Amino acid sequence: MVVDYKKLGLVNTREMFKRAINGGYAIPAFNFNNLEQLQAIIKASSELKSPVILQVSKGARKYANQTLLRYLAEGAVEYAKEIGCHHPEIVLHLDHGDSFETCKSCVDYGFSSVMIDGSALPYEENIAVTKKVVEYAHQFDVTVEGELGVLAGVEDDVVAEESHYTKPEEVVDFATRTGVDSLAISIGTSHGAYKFTPEQCTRDPKTGRLVPPPLAFDVLEAIEKKLPGFPIVLHGSSSVPQEYVDIINAHGGKLPNAVGIPEEQLRKATKSAVCKINIDSDSRLAFTAGVRQTFDEHPEYFDPRQYCGKAREYMEELYKHKITDVLGSDNKLANLD
Ligand code: G3H
Ligand code: 13P
Ligand code: ZN
Repeated sequence: MVVDYKKLGLVNTREMFKRAINGGYAIPAFNFNNLEQLQAIIKASSELKSPVILQVSKGARKYANQTLLRYLAEGAVEYAKEIGCHHPEIVLHLDHGDSFETCKSCVDYGFSSVMIDGSALPYEENIAVTKKVVEYAHQFDVTVEGELGVLAGVEDDVVAEESHYTKPEEVVDFATRTGVDSLAISIGTSHGAYKFTPEQCTRDPKTGRLVPPPLAFDVLEAIEKKLPGFPIVLHGSSSVPQEYVDIINAHGGKLPNAVGIPEEQLRKATKSAVCKINIDSDSRLAFTAGVRQTFDEHPEYFDPRQYCGKAREYMEELYKHKITDVLGSDNKLANLD
C-alpha cells in the first residue's frame, strides 16, 4: 500500500520550482534529523510564508527512524497551520537516494519527492536507475531529482577526491532519457564545513579569513542554454557562517579553516534556473554553537531543553536569514492568506 502524500498535506516540487525559476528565487531544502531542527525549519518558513523542502538523508533515516520522520513531517503541516500559515507548501524529500529500492520505499511511505543519486555510476547506469525511479515515482505524482557530475568531498559513502563539473553536453540526453523533474549539478559546491583547502583559497587582507574560489557560473550558463527553464539544484551550498564557527571555537570547539560558499554567489545563482538550494552543514553549525555556548556559560544546566532550546533559537535565526537574504523565497506561497 502506497501512502498518498497529498492526504498528509504535503506537495511535490513541480509547481514551486516553476514559480521559483520565473520569479528569480530558490526554494530552501533543509535537512532534518531531529525535532528541534524541524521545529526551527517550520517556524522560519511558516512565519516568512516560504515554500520549504524537508530533506531526509539515508543517515537521517537510520538515526531517527523513517516512520517517525514521516509522521514528524505530517505533524509539521499541522504545526505550520497552527502558527498561522494557513496554506503551507511543504515537500518531504529523500536526499541522496542510493538505489531504486530506497527511493521506492520512500515513495511508498508518503514522501512527495525523491532524489536518486546515480552520479558516481557510469553514465549509462545512472540513466538506467534514474529512469526506473522516475517511472515508479511518477505513477504517484512524486517528483524526482537526478544528479550529473560529482561534487568534491563526501557524498554519503562516496568520496570524490576532486569535483567533476557537470558536462553541459550530457544534460539534454540525461533529462530526456530519464524524464527527471530536476537536475543536481556540480559547479564547484561541495558537502560539509570544509569545502576548500586553504591552498585553494586566498586570504582577505583585512580579516585574514579564507576567501574561496568562485563557482563555475560559465558551466551553469552553458547548462541553462542547453535546457532552458529546466529546474536546476545546487547541493553542498552551506556558507559556513563565521559567526557560528567563532562561537564554537570560543567555547571549546576546534573547527580551524572551515569555509563554505559565499552567500552572494548563492544569491546570484538564484537568479538563474537554480531553484533548489541544499543546506545542512550550516544548521549543524548553528546547533553546535548554541549547545557549546550554553554548556560553557551554564555548567550547572542538565536539562536538554535548555541547551537544545538555544540551539533551536540559533537555527531559526539561520533559516530566516537564508530564506530572506539568500534564497529570496519569503512571501512566495501560492496562497498567502
Ligand atoms: O548531502 C549530505 C547531507 O548533508 C546529509 O548528510 O548523510 O550525514 O545525513 P548525512
Ligand atoms: P552542505 O553540507 O553544504 O550543507 O550541503 C547539504 C546537501 O547538499 C544535502 O544534500
Ligand atoms: Zn547533497
